[in-house]
Amino acid sequence: ERTPIIAPSILASDFSRLAEEVRAIEGAADWVHVDVMDNHFVPNLTIGLPVVQSLRKATDIPFDVHLMINDPQRWAPGYAEAGAYNVTFHAEACDDPVALAKTLRAAGSKAGLAIDRDTPVEPYLELLPYLDTILIMTIKAGFGGQAFMPELLGKVRDVRRRADVNDLQIRIEVDGGIAADTIERAAEAGADAFVAGTAVYGAADPAEAIRKLRGLAAA
Ligand code: DX5
Ligand code: ZN
Repeated sequence: ERTPIIAPSILASDFSRLAEEVRAIEGAADWVHVDVMDNHFVPNLTIGLPVVQSLRKATDIPFDVHLMINDPQRWAPGYAEAGAYNVTFHAEACDDPVALAKTLRAAGSKAGLAIDRDTPVEPYLELLPYLDTILIMTIKAGFGGQAFMPELLGKVRDVRRRADVNDLQIRIEVDGGIAADTIERAAEAGADAFVAGTAVYGAADPAEAIRKLRGLAAA
């Protein structure tokens, strides 16, 4: 089986010390998850391309960029060009996900599709061969610190089943409320990449919190 990816979300970190906060998880995290919000797709605003370009120079950890923005066709390629490892855009904001995934791959990143709380995954299962990651939200996108919604794991199971039947290497990522008391359920449903904001940056020792999550996800 594939080893789990742990991707701490800097949304829960101290934004005045972003470079230090990312360095604090070096050697422990697989990816760093960067939540980009535009106050239109979601009712919250975070950081954008200039911050990602600067932060990219501060660490070697692969960037997992989660675009919670409208018009991802316009903005997503810039993140790939800035050196992001994976760029994920939302299905709800994009009318041609396959075309954007191809653009992202041509620009040098992996391509991910995110499915928000109220969106069924079924129409997107046929797109899996064109994607490197699929991000199943386990909350409604927009804010950190929300409670995990186990009823959304059915979508993870649906993707896992389709990926296994078709022998696809896609990463199945979950985001929202992932912590020591929820990660095992997500892993059991078939997820193999785990975003955790509060559970990592809210912990006294973020690196230790990552190791604990990894152990639970791999069990
Ligand atoms: C919210 C973001 C998440 C957020 C998760 O829309 O996509 O990545 O940082 O935060 P926690 O882990 O606290 O639920
Ligand atoms: Zn996210």
